[in-house]
Amino acid sequence: MYIDCTDKELFIFKKIANAAAELDVPCYLIGGFVRDKIIGRDTKDIDIVCIGDGIALAHKAAEKFNPHPQVNFFKNFGTAQIKVDDIEIEFVGARKESYDFNSRKPAVENGTLEDDQNRRDFTINALAISLNKENYGDLINPFDGIADIEKGIIRTPLAPAQTFSDDPLRMMRGIRFAAQLNYIIEENTLEAIKENAQRIKIVSGERIADELNKILMCAKPSIGFDLLYKAGLLKIIFPQMVALAGAEYIDGKGHKDNFYHTLQVVDNICETTDDLWLRWAAVLHDIAKPATKRFEEGHGWTFHGHEVVGGRMVPKIFAQLKLPQNEKMKFVRKMVELHLRPISLTKENITDSAVRRLLFDAGEDFDALMKLCAADITSKNKQKVTRFLQNFEMVKQRCAEVEEKDHLRNWQPPITGELIMQTFNLLPSKNVGIIKDAIRNAILDGEIPNEYEAAHAFMIRKAKELGITN
Ligand code: CTP
Repeated sequence: MYIDCTDKELFIFKKIANAAAELDVPCYLIGGFVRDKIIGRDTKDIDIVCIGDGIALAHKAAEKFNPHPQVNFFKNFGTAQIKVDDIEIEFVGARKESYDFNSRKPAVENGTLEDDQNRRDFTINALAISLNKENYGDLINPFDGIADIEKGIIRTPLAPAQTFSDDPLRMMRGIRFAAQLNYIIEENTLEAIKENAQRIKIVSGERIADELNKILMCAKPSIGFDLLYKAGLLKIIFPQMVALAGAEYIDGKGHKDNFYHTLQVVDNICETTDDLWLRWAAVLHDIAKPATKRFEEGHGWTFHGHEVVGGRMVPKIFAQLKLPQNEKMKFVRKMVELHLRPISLTKENITDSAVRRLLFDAGEDFDALMKLCAADITSKNKQKVTRFLQNFEMVKQRCAEVEEKDHLRNWQPPITGELIMQTFNLLPSKNVGIIKDAIRNAILDGEIPNEYEAAHAFMIRKAKELGITN
């Protein structure tokens, strides 16, 4: 076998090879499995291409395993899947495809192995390994995908314009592979992506989101986002991010290029978290800078309120990018809204009450927020970075001290709205909210201790002020 496989994988290949021999249908390992084995990445799913009926081969192969796995098949696409333990095996008949210009749906015709390799997206994904008796385990490498793996190159097997026009999602896949594998996109291939960028419009938002998420889960997502930007794809799929690019100068004063700053923040946060949503928060933390940018005489560039405006943009951007509108989105919004808070504490005398408020507002997401803030400290000036990091450590320390004393991260004030309504015989109304907020603020500001008795007495006083008696 050209590639190193586990005993279990070899066992599976033998069963499939026997099934194929019985049907007299040549078959091959192909695609991501072969690529990842050669590169030495983890692999799980196995793709099999056969010169014949993929669904029939899947049924025959299923009979060889004990117990027989269920065969899931899609007649329209000519594909079938079986699952052996945790390994998914997909079968497909070799095809020759021609695409309709306005959709990603191919018109499928049966083809040879060569036809099938020709129609694949990249040379590194077009490598096949024979499971046939006469050349079992041999590599079939018509486009020298091996050399491209060795050199770290993403290249299409056929003329790139044809490959991308056939299926424009491949433009994003190519960039995603470049980011995942830290490969270079070959010049003509990149040029064709630029030329065909508009074609991405026929791809569904969900598929695009899937690729963006994969780019964001790379060790260095900046590689992918920068390529999307330079290829002209980002402008089409996520124009708000492109609006961050560039620096304006007035009176010789410029601001930083917020696109490259954002990419740096994203790369930084990837060193401390695998959480996709915190990584999205890094992408979006400064998204409202273009909308809030002002040049103030004698002061320079300001972006006042960009965290609040940015927070408001999050639901819209999530909808546009077909990302969920659930608690994940709310988490990202919260991170964007709070991202300046810890650092702003370093600019003033840190009072306990400011720290308490931060702990309360961030709640269970406090650690995530601190990671975002640390990642946001970027500057070409090393001394500046060191000073910021020192201040930031001080804020962290103070937060830890106050948290130990007051336990505010998952805190609820000792008086509930329910109790306020009962005490004063009120229906749900504005005054209930006013009293509740006043109690919370009094505790956070250290006016009264965080205890039931004190809060209760404060509630009575506050109600009186509002002309409410019990
Ligand atoms: N493929 C293609 N064009 C696409 C999608 C897939 O040519 N738009 C081919 C490639 O040969 C690819 C194979 O189908 O290797 C399997 O596709 P898929 O499972 O989606 O991707 P993998 O390459 O296995 O990689 P990943 O799982 O990381 O997406």
